[in-house]
Amino acid sequence: MNRTSAKDFSRHPGLLDGHVERIIAAHKAADGYMADTALRTAGLIKIPGFLGNRRQTDLQTRVADEIYVIRPGDGKRHDSLVTASKPTSACRLVAGAMWPVISGLFTAHHAEVARKYYENLYLQHLTNSPDDNDEQKVFHTDTFFPAVKWWYFPHEVGPTDGPLMYVPNSPILSPALLAWHRAQIDAIRKGKVEEWRGRGHREGSLRIGLEEIADLGLKPESVTVEADTLVIANVFGFHARGVTTTPTHRLAVHGSIRLDNPI
Ligand SMILES: [Fe+2]
Repeated sequence: MNRTSAKDFSRHPGLLDGHVERIIAAHKAADGYMADTALRTAGLIKIPGFLGNRRQTDLQTRVADEIYVIRPGDGKRHDSLVTASKPTSACRLVAGAMWPVISGLFTAHHAEVARKYYENLYLQHLTNSPDDNDEQKVFHTDTFFPAVKWWYFPHEVGPTDGPLMYVPNSPILSPALLAWHRAQIDAIRKGKVEEWRGRGHREGSLRIGLEEIADLGLKPESVTVEADTLVIANVFGFHARGVTTTPTHRLAVHGSIRLDNPI
């Protein structure tokens, strides 16, 4: 383990010691490399009309068409990377338009951010069905430090389209949140983790229940958007994939940046 971003308690049980202290140290360190935006507090930024007047209808349709032909799936694959598309593709234009916004979230680590931007930028053709037991549908924090994910949605995402769910203000390190983290670590150490929290919990993406979210004084929100919206989320904050009542397709140009050494 030579990166301070390591988070997997199953592989590195030593990380259980000092987990809460690492959260605090990582957030202090972020003051030195993350811009002071709503991403640090509320945790979510929505930019509707993102492409605006740049021949938007035509471009949005082209982006959606390029994503739709990608084989459905969640993860980043070689064939779904934006860099695998033609230099003249619409998704490349969107990537270029998003870059100043995403890079502007960082005040340092510029070379790493620039490299990761294209390494992790892909066309996400997500299918979502009721009762698919997708572990991403349980609210969770991705990791212990502020990390960024974003989605450009060419189409509207309505309440029944499996929108992202997000808990506003959950990136704020309140005493109650830190106490919740401490309790999770104790439970993992004692081998007393409830089944529903799943594998990801022990891997450092801690799962949280709806009642626990309410106990923190927080409330999940459904991130529905109009067509042509950029959504940026701090995935230290709690989030989940939305549920659907019928099988749906959700199209996005999706990227993420998680620093190798956030402390
Ligand atoms: Fe996540």
